[in-house]
Parts: sequence; structure tokens; C-alpha cells
Amino acid sequence: MTLPTSGLPREDVFARLADIRAHDLDTRGGRTWAYVYDSGRAEVDEVAGQAYLAFLHENGLDPTVFPSVLHLENDVVAIAAAHLGGDEHTVGSFTSGGTESCMLAVKAARDRFRERHGAGRTRIVLPDTAHAAFSKAAHYFDLEEVRVPVDPVTFRADVDAVAGAIDARTAIVVGSAPQYAHGVVDPIEELASVTAQRDVWFHVDACIGGWLLPYARRLGVEVPAFDFTVPGVTSMSMDLHKYAYCPKGASVVLYRDAELRRHQLYACADWSGYTVINTTMQSTKSAGPLAAAWATLHFVGDDGYLDIARRTQQATRRLVDGIAVIDGLEVLGDPPMSLVAAQAPDFSVFEVVDEMKRRGWYVQPQLAHRGSPANVHFSVTASSADVVDAMLDDLAASCEAARRIEVGDDTRQFLAALSGLDPDAFTPEMYAGMLQAAGLGGRDGSGGGVGLPEDMASINAMLNALPPALREKLLVAFLNELFRPAAPAPAPAG
Ligand SMILES: Cc1ncc(COP(=O)(O)O)c(C=O)c1O
Repeated sequence: MTLPTSGLPREDVFARLADIRAHDLDTRGGRTWAYVYDSGRAEVDEVAGQAYLAFLHENGLDPTVFPSVLHLENDVVAIAAAHLGGDEHTVGSFTSGGTESCMLAVKAARDRFRERHGAGRTRIVLPDTAHAAFSKAAHYFDLEEVRVPVDPVTFRADVDAVAGAIDARTAIVVGSAPQYAHGVVDPIEELASVTAQRDVWFHVDACIGGWLLPYARRLGVEVPAFDFTVPGVTSMSMDLHKYAYCPKGASVVLYRDAELRRHQLYACADWSGYTVINTTMQSTKSAGPLAAAWATLHFVGDDGYLDIARRTQQATRRLVDGIAVIDGLEVLGDPPMSLVAAQAPDFSVFEVVDEMKRRGWYVQPQLAHRGSPANVHFSVTASSADVVDAMLDDLAASCEAARRIEVGDDTRQFLAALSGLDPDAFTPEMYAGMLQAAGLGGRDGSGGGVGLPEDMASINAMLNALPPALREKLLVAFLNELFRPAAPAPAPAG
């Protein structure tokens, strides 16, 4: 790929973009049960898109230069704080997404701990089900990560295990409302009581559920207390680009008071250029996502969100009931809102995922991890309500097809051998060999990354068999292959 010498006509630009997108999943219409959130109302997308474009070029770098950005952010954070039981002391920031919100909370907790207790390596205590964003935060900000097992039946955090893991260097403990993998809410009140007694920062990750759970409660679902109404909750994260149906790039991180949030902020006056004052990780950033979030919240309104939540809850109940009558498929835990994970002890869920793809659906594979078996994950959104019955028919057929696939002894032995491999004994060449074996290696020399295979079941089965540290190294090796500059277009013949 090279820069065209003369700019392309506008129609050509859009025609080429459409071509590039041709193989993407549908983001609208309810066939994609992960990664995208569809309110089922086209006009919500239109309003958000218009607001996004209207603020595309405003820069959130310096709130003293674009007062509109400050205004919009203070409005959005006020709505979020009120939604999560905040009071007049609650403050927060608008961020690019859940990962940034979680990472900022960890950074704030670490820096507060250092201010109070002196420098030195701090620790973060995480139930096994806390989102990977917290591992990423530990990695980036050099905290020691302490993972603790969750209850093997309910998949909720084990309060005693968390309490036992806290020590004098623990800067932060995390609970989830709900956790992504099985969609269940941790015992937030109990965890908050444990951390408050030890004077430790407690973050509630409500990235995926913070917006929907209060509506689910209003619809009669039993939702345990999980927000700032619980004493001892120090900070929270909540994504607006999930169940508030705002375009991507929209989340908030909230703190009980401004003194806590101080540790998140960053200023630099010790260089030769303009004064840098940043609330978040990015410096220059478009105000588009913020304006789109403001517009979406105002356009949908409380009644609109309640209605969307009703449709989402109905679709989730239908899904859980439907799975219950599919032979061999079992829901894990008892999810109160819209995230459902199901295991299949007698056949491969990874084959189910591929079978579903052939039938035009995307459902998400999740690898086994400690007490959590390999499973297939469904994120239900409002638009799922229109298609859930059709999806369940294909899910039943996909399970039947997966059950008929025989796994040979060779494969079984190969997978069993993988679990004993030592990641430290692996060389880059060995990773390249494994990628090749999985059909993911070997760029053809024409530039461009490796191809993406149609069928993922055997690759997922292989990843599933590996210890997590090896999975991670292999995935990094894969990413390093995948993102390669595209080759120049071939010269026209003749
Ligand atoms: C509970 C939870 N926390 C954090 C995240 C990370 O959010 P993002 O993908 O927006 O960075 C997610 C994403 O699904 C999540 O479910």
C-alpha cells in the first residue's frame, strides 16, 4: 500500500472503504452476540453520529481552550454519578473506554498508596473473574497482581479468599458488577466491608453492568447493592459505549471525592512547550465520542432506557430458558442481567462457535480458566429480542453438529501434552512453529499480515489446552505477525 500521488475522488474513497469492510460482522440486526451493542432503534445511531461529527474536530486536550468539552464532560459525569448512587462529592472523568477507566483507577490507587505509605512495589488483589484490564493496569503501572479463586459454583468473588489475600502492600481490591465472563455480580457489600476495615481502596468495575443494572432492578430483577450507596466503595468504572448504547470511545471513571481523583490527574510544566494538563491517558483527543454520548443520553432519556432494558431482560430470560432445553448445554452460574455463558461437557463449545458462524451468527468462545470451564458467551442487547428464537434454533442445531464431531486419540494426546509445556523453555522459533501448525503463521512474502482462518475451533482447542502464560506468549507472537504494513499494490500488467 502506498499513498496515491493525487487524491482519490470522494466516491472512490467510500467505495474502497465499503470493500474493506465487506467481510466484517454485522453490527446491527442482532446476529452478533459480542463486541457490539444495538439498541434496535436506528434513530439513536443517527443522533449519536450527527453529534459525533459536529464535535469531531474539537480537541479535549485543554479544557480551558474548548469550554464546550468541559461543559459536556461535567454533564455526562453528573448523569453517570447520579445513576450510580453518587452524591455532591462524587467526581469523575470521561474516558475512551472500560480499559482506560479501570487503568486510571488503578493508577490513582497506586499513587495514593505511595503518598501515604512511601514508594515501593504495591499489590492489586483481583478475583479470577476481574477483567483483564486490571492485569493490564498491573503490567503497565508495575503492581504485583494477586489473583484469588472465585466460588466454583456461583462464580462470584470469594470474600474470605479476598480478605486473606490483602496485606500491608495492597493498594487496591477490585469487585465486579457484574463480571464479564459469567455475568454475575460479586458480593460488593461484603467486599467493601472487608476493604474498609483494612483501609484499602475498593474499586467496583461496573463497566459492563453499571448502566443496565439499575434499570434491571426497576424491572423487578433482584440486584444486590453495588454502587456508591455502599459505604467503602472508593471508585467505579462504567462504560457508556456498552448498555447506554453510545458510540465507542465512551466510559466514565468515578471517585467518591475529588481528593481521591487528584491521584489520577497529570500535569507537566517541566518542558519547553505548552503546559500539559491531562485528566486521562490521552492528551489530544476528539470530543466526538463525548458529544455523541451526551446526545445519546439526552435523546434516549430515562423512559427510553427503561424500555430498552425491558426488551433486553426479556431476551435474556428467553435465552436462558432456551439453553436449558438444549441437550448438553448448561448455563454457568445465575446471571441477573444480559451476559450468559454456557458450557457443554460432552462436546466442544469451540465447534459450536464455528457452527454458529456458518449459520450467520457470532457468539464468543471463552477458554477454560481455573474453575471456569470452556464456554460460549452471549452478550444480549435490545435487538437480540427480535432474533433470539431463530438464534436458539440454530444453537440447538450447532450443538447437534458439534456432538457428531469425533475427536481422535492423537488429538487428545496432543492437547494433553500441551498443558505440560513450560513457557520459559520456548524460543521465538518455537512460537512461529506453533503458529504455522495452527494455520496462522507464514506470511507469504508479499507483505501484509497472516491470514485469518475461517475455522477457529482447533485453534481455540489448542489455546484452551495451554497454560495461560503460554497462551499469552503465543497470542503476542500472533499479534506481532498479524499487524504488518500492507504490501504495495502490484504494478498493472503490460
Ligand atoms: C467488566 C468489564 N470491565 C472492563 C471491560 C473493558 O472495557 P473496554 O473493552 O471498553 O476497554 C469490559 C469489557 O467488556 C468489561 O466487561
